Amino acid sequence: MYNIKPETFNLKSVNGISTKQLDEHYKLYVGYVNTLNKIWNTPYVPENYTDSNATYSNMRSLKLGETYSLDGVKLHQLYFENMTGGNNTPFGPVLNAIIDQFSFYDKFISYLTNVGLSMRGWAVLSIDSIDNKFHIIGSDLHDTGAVWLSYPLLVMDLYEHAYFMDFGTDKKKYIATFIKNINWGVLNNRLANYVSLIHVKNMKRYPF
Ligand SMILES: [Fe+2]
Repeated sequence: MYNIKPETFNLKSVNGISTKQLDEHYKLYVGYVNTLNKIWNTPYVPENYTDSNATYSNMRSLKLGETYSLDGVKLHQLYFENMTGGNNTPFGPVLNAIIDQFSFYDKFISYLTNVGLSMRGWAVLSIDSIDNKFHIIGSDLHDTGAVWLSYPLLVMDLYEHAYFMDFGTDKKKYIATFIKNINWGVLNNRLANYVSLIHVKNMKRYPF
């Protein structure tokens, strides 16, 4: 029996985004959790999957729903976690690595903002295991553009449901507001987790 529970977040700590907007967004996240449990608790009965094919079939529907809801759960947990709880002043190893790799902080913010404006789903600052460098990944849907063995450090939701209630079409203002709420302590903890999980080479220049 699978029973994933929704995580809770200190949404009241967010400045510039209304409680109504955040509460409605949180409800969507809970919906993904419920759907994921439903899918994972669906028993595999071979007789139900005799039509399996890659155009339309029960198994195809199940697998597409699984990745969409699973990525939806994880991305929203990362998003809510990294925009709540304070520590909004950039600091630490993540900031040092950003400056090292993107020349200066404002250039990184400009890049992140433009990726955000260009995508319909997510912008993710990740450290990729192929080179242990930071990359800003853009995705249009929870399960489109996801990169395996790439570790997310900062996750920004760009679905219209994340901002339309408060900001209408002013996506740029939402992105700027989100950036002001980034919890840099969370980002630094995630980088430390990556370093402890992966055998990291060529990263001695970063002061972990
Ligand atoms: Fe969302």
